Amino acid sequence: MIEVTGLAKRYGDFTAVRDLSFTVGPGEVLGLVGPNGAGKTSTLRCLAGIIPATAGTVRIGGNDLATDPVAAKRTLAFFPDEPRLFDYLTVRQHLNFVARVYGVAHHEALAQPLLEELEIADKADELPGALSRGMKQKLAIACGLLHGPKVMFFDEPLTGLDPLGIRRMKDSILKRARDGAAIVLSSHLLHLLEEVCSHVLILKKGGKIAAGTIAEVAARFSQGEADVNLEEIFIRATGGSEN
Ligand SMILES: Nc1ncnc2c1ncn2[C@@H]1O[C@H](COP(=O)(O)OP(=O)(O)OP(=O)(O)O)[C@@H](O)[C@H]1O
Ligand SMILES: [Mg+2]
Repeated sequence: MIEVTGLAKRYGDFTAVRDLSFTVGPGEVLGLVGPNGAGKTSTLRCLAGIIPATAGTVRIGGNDLATDPVAAKRTLAFFPDEPRLFDYLTVRQHLNFVARVYGVAHHEALAQPLLEELEIADKADELPGALSRGMKQKLAIACGLLHGPKVMFFDEPLTGLDPLGIRRMKDSILKRARDGAAIVLSSHLLHLLEEVCSHVLILKKGGKIAAGTIAEVAARFSQGEADVNLEEIFIRATGGSEN
């Protein structure tokens, strides 16, 4: 579903992401973790075609993002860490707009349950200025889900949500995965990530330190102990005096 080969991203002379290869299949949720500046957002933006990769190939649902970007982007949704909304469109108008851009038929029937699932249905006629930060995030998520993407990239989807919002967001992500979506998400909330992700990829200074199922990565860093959690794995994998 998502196939990444030799992905690299440079900003001028600075290499933010180097030689990254991985695949995410239907139903899998890959957690992208790493210290601040490790290259998570840069990777997600390249995977979603928001910024061009410097090297490597990204295939989304079999379509090459560089040579067949429209087909690839039709299949995916990208949820940025800072939602960008239109100041003068209401919640409902945002969804109408997105439906037109993506050619979603019968979108009214789809929009209402999404607004209810994300608990912003009572704000349907409000402008973004009248929404809280978490509500703006939820609107951006409703917009991204409207066209029924099979591949989803979330940058820090749980940050800024209240505890119930976090639980709902986890449930939404897991529901899409069960329905066969391939999902990549970045987060620093490792105890929450553990509950959502089937796989994890640890990045440090733009490079892959470890990748696999959570159990596989845990086994590599567990030093023989049982029940080593992701936070401990993260610290063992990315810590060290060279940081
Ligand atoms: N537009 C840009 N121009 C130049 N350098 C950039 C740009 N965007 C990111 N970088 C650099 O690339 C590196 C990776 O940044 P990125 O935002 O991908 O990290 P991140 O893993 O998402 O970090 P965080 O956990 O803080 O969100 C950082 O050193 C950052 O300063
Ligand atoms: Mg980031």
